[in-house]
Amino acid sequence: EDPPSEVEQLPEAYGWKIFMFPGIKDHVAHVEATRKLSIRDDDVLVAAYPKCGTHWLWEVTQMLLRQTTDYEKRTKEQVMLESPGGLERAEQEPSPRILNSHNPFVHLPQEIISKKTKIIHVIRNPKDAAVSNYWHLKNIHNVQDLQFQQHLNVMMGKSQLPTQFDYLQQMSEFERTHPGHPIKHVYYEDMKKEPIKIIKELAQFLNVPASDEFCQDVANACSFEKLKKLEEAGAKNFPTEFAHVLNELGGKMHFYRKGIIGDWKNMFTVAQNEIFDAYIDSCIKNKGLNYTFIY
Ligand code: A3P
Repeated sequence: EDPPSEVEQLPEAYGWKIFMFPGIKDHVAHVEATRKLSIRDDDVLVAAYPKCGTHWLWEVTQMLLRQTTDYEKRTKEQVMLESPGGLERAEQEPSPRILNSHNPFVHLPQEIISKKTKIIHVIRNPKDAAVSNYWHLKNIHNVQDLQFQQHLNVMMGKSQLPTQFDYLQQMSEFERTHPGHPIKHVYYEDMKKEPIKIIKELAQFLNVPASDEFCQDVANACSFEKLKKLEEAGAKNFPTEFAHVLNELGGKMHFYRKGIIGDWKNMFTVAQNEIFDAYIDSCIKNKGLNYTFIY
C-alpha cells in the first residue's frame, strides 16, 4: 500500500528533509532560527530518532544534572527544539539546560560544535521504534485508518520522511567529521536491561557524582510505571504551545505506551519481518553503519 500522502512534500534545508512538527508555520525559517540558538557552556543535548526513548533519557539526565530524584525540581516542559515554542522555551530554561531534538546536526544549533556540547544519542532497535512510531503518529495526527504496512513503507524510506537509518548515517557522519566531540550512545534495550549500569556511565559522561544508591533511585524514579503515572497525572513535558496545536488537530500525545523490548513481534507478520530484516541489512551495508541493534 502507498504511504500516506501527508508526508510526501517535505521542505529541505542543508540537504536534509525537515521534520514537520504540526503548528510550525515556516519550517525553513524555524531551522534557521534553531541553527542560530545560543548555546551555553553547560548545555547537554539528548538526540534521537523519534520513539527511541528520548523522554526517558531526558528525565534521567535531568535527575543526574540536578542531583535529585524529586519530580518537582525538574523542568516539566521538555525543550524539543523543533516543536512550536521550543526555541522560546530553550531561552527561558534555567541552566543546566537539556536540549532535545530529532534534527540532524545540520539543523541543530551550530554552536554545539565549538562549545563541544555533550550529546546523549539514544538508539533503539528499528522494529520496536517503527511500532512505537506507528501508534504515536496515529494518535498525534488522529489518523486511525493508517495501516501498519503503509507506515512500514514510510519507515523503509518509501516516502520523503528521513528514516532511522538516515538519522544514524548523519550521526555517524557527524562523529567522523568531528572527532573528539563528546557523544554517549545509549541503547534503549541496555537501559531497560541494566538501568543502573547505564545511569552510572551517564553520570561519568556528564561528570556528576553518582553513588550506587543514587543511581538506583534515579532508575526507580524513571521507571516506565513511574513516568507513565506522572504523565497521566497531567505533568506536562512538552511546550504548552504544542498542546494547543494538538488540541486543534484532535490529536493526542502519549509518550508512555508499553515500554517493552520486542513489541514488534505483536505487529510484524512473518513476511513483513523478512522484508524489514533485509531492509535493515541493506542500510547497514550501504550506509556503512556501525550499530548493532538489540532485539
Ligand atoms: P513504546 O511506544 O514502545 O511503549 P520517545 O520518548 O523517544 O518518544 O520514545 C517513546 C518510547 O519510549 C515509548 O515506547 C515509551 O513507552 C518508551 N519509554 C519511555 N519511558 C520508558 C521507560 N522508563 N522504560 C521503558 N520504556 C520507556
